[in-house]
Amino acid sequence: MSKKVRKAGITGVGSYVPKNILTNHDLEEMVETSDEWIKSRTGIEERRIADDDETTSDLAYKAARKALSNAELAAEDLDLILVATMTPDMPFPATACLLQDRLAAKQAAAFDLQAACSGFAYGLSVASQFIASRAYNNVLVVGAETISKILNWEDRNTCILFGDGAGAAVVQSLDSGGILANVLGADGSDSEVLKMPAGGSQKPASLTTVENNLHYMEMDGNSVFKFAVRIVDKVALEVLKKADLTPEDVDFFIPHQANIRIIEAAVKRLNLNEEEVFINLDKYGNTSAASIPIALDEALQAGRISMGDKVLTVGFGAGLTWGANIIEWSY
Ligand code: UT7
Repeated sequence: MSKKVRKAGITGVGSYVPKNILTNHDLEEMVETSDEWIKSRTGIEERRIADDDETTSDLAYKAARKALSNAELAAEDLDLILVATMTPDMPFPATACLLQDRLAAKQAAAFDLQAACSGFAYGLSVASQFIASRAYNNVLVVGAETISKILNWEDRNTCILFGDGAGAAVVQSLDSGGILANVLGADGSDSEVLKMPAGGSQKPASLTTVENNLHYMEMDGNSVFKFAVRIVDKVALEVLKKADLTPEDVDFFIPHQANIRIIEAAVKRLNLNEEEVFINLDKYGNTSAASIPIALDEALQAGRISMGDKVLTVGFGAGLTWGANIIEWSY
């Protein structure tokens, strides 16, 4: 067998969002906020919320099934399942293992990847290394979240921003095109600005942690905002350079769907046209690791990506983490 590095690419995409819609007007009844404030500061109009008994692996399963069918790949032929999530069904076992069982993907190794909102960008990069090295042929990368379950619904700084959903991509080897370059990064010195303080070894769950709301997400929105505005175009330029490309070569840009103002700042700095940028945060809010694959699926369904297009994705989030992929679309 040749030891030559192989090209890896996406050969099937699928997504799923829960049916329950929570609008900005609904939130006006829950916290001191307004539709006008949320729309003007974030671009979000509504988001999807999982049922009480609906788990991250439930959403992941539905997205994964669609991606596999799209790729015309049987689950039993998967070599690896990778679930990017910060809202796993439980701390362990990995949500990827629960998904592996639901899919009956008996040959597949399975693990979760925790890079918060950058999870899908990290996942695509990890998958492409396994394909390039010939360790595996068929990898399923899923970004799935039920953020609604870790939100403090009395905290208007966070509860207006997020939503639930899942997106999945099958990554396989290709003769040409595919994932041209990846860039990943992290800065743990800013880990304080976005976190869920309790439930780990630092603050194991207890009556006190629950009484103090430490099992919910906490965020210093301003600091995350400043970081995001700084990082998106920087990492975009970095990944393009790695692939010997410039922003003019980008046909389609899928940014992490966190805040319209963050996206607009990046688009301006990269000098991209508005029609080259995909935005669906108005409908779903920030779905963390699921945001890029959901957007990718919707962009494909809408016929906005064609064969040969250079598709740029950039994610950023807690950690702090960031990641970007440049993909030459090939299916
Ligand atoms: O995937 C990464 C996850 N995180 C993010 O992407 C978050 C990034 N950060 C952001 O998107 C923005 O910082 C926010 C949308 C969270 C906040 O927007 P902002 O323009 O930075 O607002 P701010 O925090 O500076 O607050 C402005 C005002 C404050 O009132 P005062 O002090 O000016 O009187 C806030 O108390 O808006 C108030 N405010 C709200 N008002 C109505 C904060 N949250 C709300 C709210 N509704 N939900």
